Amino acid sequence: MKLNGIAHRSVEADPAAGCVRILDQTLLPWRTLWLELATLEDTLHAIATMQVRGAPLIGAVAAWGVALALRADASDAALERDAARLVATRPTAVNLRWAVERMGRVLRPLPPAARAAAAAAEAARIAEEDAAQCAAIGQAGAELIADLARRSGSRRSDGRVNVLTHCNAGWLATVDWGTALAPIYAAAAAGIDVHVWVDETRPRNQGASLTAFELAQQGIAHTVVADNAGGHLMQHGQVDIVIVGADRVTRRGDVANKIGTYLKALAAHDNAVPFWVAVPSSTIDWTLADGVAEIPIEERAGREVTHISGRDAGGEVREVQLTASPAANPAFDVTPARLVRGLITERGRCPATEAGLAALFGR
Ligand code: MRU
Repeated sequence: MKLNGIAHRSVEADPAAGCVRILDQTLLPWRTLWLELATLEDTLHAIATMQVRGAPLIGAVAAWGVALALRADASDAALERDAARLVATRPTAVNLRWAVERMGRVLRPLPPAARAAAAAAEAARIAEEDAAQCAAIGQAGAELIADLARRSGSRRSDGRVNVLTHCNAGWLATVDWGTALAPIYAAAAAGIDVHVWVDETRPRNQGASLTAFELAQQGIAHTVVADNAGGHLMQHGQVDIVIVGADRVTRRGDVANKIGTYLKALAAHDNAVPFWVAVPSSTIDWTLADGVAEIPIEERAGREVTHISGRDAGGEVREVQLTASPAANPAFDVTPARLVRGLITERGRCPATEAGLAALFGR
């Protein structure tokens, strides 16, 4: 996708320099700074501090982390130790475990001397596959938006389709295109008039700072709303479809995504607004069935709730304190499958059910 008019991926390898480059997402939307990750420690820091975030991107960057780690120590013991450290950085996004386990399966049978080169090749494959899968999700989801545009023509004079999304599931959260935003980009490229309601997504504001930023960069009409506005907009016919991403989907179709997603699904259900979840297959956890009972929910620092940063009138980015009270910060919630109209995957769309997923993925 484009950043200041130039095509970029959100993680870019530079084999000649021996590093991968990431866009520091903690500085957006105010500053675009590319950081070089050259070691495992750099990678752990980038994931833990959310310089990179979003389930598929975390997976892709973790795969590069394995490759960078092996340049320092390619022994069996180091491979297992470093993989475990990477997996521990963010517990909810299953793409992280998926990518690290895939690297391990490729690397374990190899002699240590062959591992670093093989790891770099496999990390590059994971990144390519993620970009291709997100492009396919875009096509599968754009059909839904095109269908709504046809029906919207008879319902509304402007013919516009209003999509509501939560958090950031765009190209910044993946290697390219995004998951929830990919259908929007594909629909806009096909000439459909799309407008996006962007939930600000407290406490870290990935909607206001990342989704709004990338939609603006791609020239997509959008409006940022407070997290609590979605239900009201739905009651007044201003949302045609909700599309969100996910950090983990169980084999029965329960969906873990950024905190607040469940409330949007409840409001969508009450207002008969279709609620779709866009995911690559790397986000499906076939080992889990009941999402509410089984998906681990990341607890982050209360400071993310008690403090907020923004730009002051002089252009300085500053952090201010909102409250002196203690705060809790569960970072994700689980939307039960019964509230999900369907899943949009690289293989097409399916009901959020065990049978639907099994049919699509041949399980
Ligand atoms: O805490 P984050 O910013 O990593 O959370 C991101 C989300 O919840 C996204 O919606 C999810 O990872 C899907 S990304 C395509």
